[in-house]
Amino acid sequence: MEFDYTTAFRANLPAAAKPWGGTPAFNFVGGNMDPSQIPVSDLIEAMTAVLNREGKDLAFYNMSNGPLGYRPLREFVAKLLKRKAGMDITPDEVLITSGSLQSLDLVNKLMLSAGDTTIIEGATYGGAISRLRAIGVDCVGVDLDDDGICMVSLEATLKRLKGEGVTPKYIFTIPTVQNPTGTVMPLDRRKRMLELASEFGVAIFEDYCYADLLWEGERPPAIYALDKAEGGRRVLYCGSFSKSVAPALRIGYVVADWAALGHMVTMKTDAGTSALAQMMLAEFCQTKFDSHTAKSTASLKEKHDVMMEALSAEFGTVAEFKPAKGGIFLWIKLLDTVDSSRLFQAAGVESVAINPGPEWTVDGPANKSWMRLCFGSATKDEIRTGVAKLAEICHREFGTPSRSGNVERG
Ligand SMILES: Cc1ncc(COP(=O)(O)O)c(C=O)c1O
Repeated sequence: MEFDYTTAFRANLPAAAKPWGGTPAFNFVGGNMDPSQIPVSDLIEAMTAVLNREGKDLAFYNMSNGPLGYRPLREFVAKLLKRKAGMDITPDEVLITSGSLQSLDLVNKLMLSAGDTTIIEGATYGGAISRLRAIGVDCVGVDLDDDGICMVSLEATLKRLKGEGVTPKYIFTIPTVQNPTGTVMPLDRRKRMLELASEFGVAIFEDYCYADLLWEGERPPAIYALDKAEGGRRVLYCGSFSKSVAPALRIGYVVADWAALGHMVTMKTDAGTSALAQMMLAEFCQTKFDSHTAKSTASLKEKHDVMMEALSAEFGTVAEFKPAKGGIFLWIKLLDTVDSSRLFQAAGVESVAINPGPEWTVDGPANKSWMRLCFGSATKDEIRTGVAKLAEICHREFGTPSRSGNVERG
């Protein structure tokens, strides 16, 4: 009997992905990192040492360390966050996840149902926006400036929603090296955000994906660290090793108390995040984390500067942007006549990949002439050549920039 299994697929499936078309030659999208900065020989050494010592524990799910994950890695995370983010936590408040995308999914599963409302930064991580929309959650954007979320905008939004009888489930923020703007929220705003969260009875979910890659200024304490938890905890925290060590390892973590983690452990139905990645990372990080991140941050800063120079040379005043304080991307405003979604299509055909602004913002159409460019994985030469190519494509499609370097375009 003829049978096609697609007839058995459930209703309302999300759209299917397109088959993978390979990595673009000029790859300015995604959170990819620099292959030359991956500490391969140190990782091999760490893996060999830990497998020789503890390899037999692979016989057990979670290496018999319980559902929160490999204990030495949780101990490392607790110490790191105490040192760098002022968080006084124990390893039992850390849940190791398969990357912070799984952390976002778990926190969302814990807190959200269709029809709920969340407050998010007006421009934020596209993967966070798409997740919220897929659940059917209303995303309300608040204004950003050079110091992250504007507290006046946050307060006005909370008041407006209260007036409409809506209590948002959480405020999602990326306070230290915001994606895509690369800003760092100062201490006074973090304190104010906590006050507002208390006043309006809203939780805070903070994401620190890029915090280990800061090159300007000191890392302020996490909002989690400022939450004295009088009358209950308000903040959930997530972090990642994707940008500090390597994204393909797929290791992140959530920090929360057991009231939240206990449920997340039930909902993390993968029987544990990869043991090999956790064991290797714990071994590596204990002695090499600081020196490695210092080296890779310095290299990223060089590429950041190269991208700024290339943008200024190729786009001139047509591209407006501010230097980032860390991380792997620049957030760029082109002339109003440029539609970055169309630019994305045209550039894609010529193997230049960019993130169009609408995918990175709550109010997509209002941000049609913004784009995000990542310099994480590209070499300096690829950055120079790719940005020049992008300017050429932009001129062909939109008649701007009319001048690149000293050359007037026809
Ligand atoms: C702000 C933010 N959060 C989370 C993620 C997901 O990272 P991962 O799952 O690799 O830890 C990213 C990826 O780029 C991101 O930019």
